[in-house]
Amino acid sequence: MKRYLITGASRGIGRAIAKKLAAPDIALLLHGRDIAALAETCREVEEKSGKVTKLIHDLATIRGVNHLVAAVGHEPIDLLVNNAGITVVKPFTEVTLDEWQQTIAVNLTAPFFLMQHFAPQMPPGSSIVNILSIAANRAYPNWSVYCASKFGLDGLSSAVREELRSRKVRVLNIYPAATDTDIWKAVQGEWPRERMVSAADVANAVAYAISQPATVAVENIMLGNLSGSL
Ligand SMILES: NC(=O)c1ccc[n+]([C@@H]2O[C@H](COP(=O)([O-])OP(=O)(O)OC[C@H]3O[C@@H](n4cnc5c(N)ncnc54)[C@H](OP(=O)(O)O)[C@@H]3O)[C@@H](O)[C@H]2O)c1
Repeated sequence: MKRYLITGASRGIGRAIAKKLAAPDIALLLHGRDIAALAETCREVEEKSGKVTKLIHDLATIRGVNHLVAAVGHEPIDLLVNNAGITVVKPFTEVTLDEWQQTIAVNLTAPFFLMQHFAPQMPPGSSIVNILSIAANRAYPNWSVYCASKFGLDGLSSAVREELRSRKVRVLNIYPAATDTDIWKAVQGEWPRERMVSAADVANAVAYAISQPATVAVENIMLGNLSGSL
């Protein structure tokens, strides 16, 4: 049975990816922090999945990343989806050290160490999917820390991709525009949900990318609502 690890699977895009990839021959290793929300994801995928494992760890600390790695165990994984992420939206002059560190830790440091740990054992034909953002290559006022983390992850994953090419491990980057999830609850202002893409749309893109023949790499998918950016 193939083993798929998805971070941030307790809600939003991560939950949608888990639902999309659930299949009888797949063991889903689903990570989150919120115990009840992650249990709900597991409940939703249980019937379709070969096996479901709940992993509850805080990725804002290296300790949490190490605990996640230990819980996944020594058996190789066939897919790593670096999806867990947070955002801080405010003028850069008001960003606190704690907000800076948390955002960089979850959005950039955790994906780095997860790729560093798991990639060497991943078999040929396996994939790493990084959920980036339109804000990984386009800057927005008041999104400085988020842009820094996603631009950073873009450079990181593009470099790692080149290192893993000869081992036939694919690094696939997804760049969603505004997506209708809980992440927007913490962002001040009016954000029209009907002009966003859905979490299911992002999950479809992930499923498409990983379903290609092992020699084909759909390396970058930009995904937005046809109505244009918000
Ligand atoms: N929504 C958008 O408009 C959009 C657009 C482009 C890219 N993205 C990216 O898509 C990814 C998923 O975002 P989403 O919109 O689905 O957001 P979401 O609904 O807020 O979900 C975020 C996920 O990340 C997890 N997470 C947050 N902080 C964590 C921490 N310290 N340790 C471990 N897990 C943590 C959350 O776990 P708990 O809830 O269990 O704490 C949750 O599962 C993020 O990387 C985000 O940057 C989102």
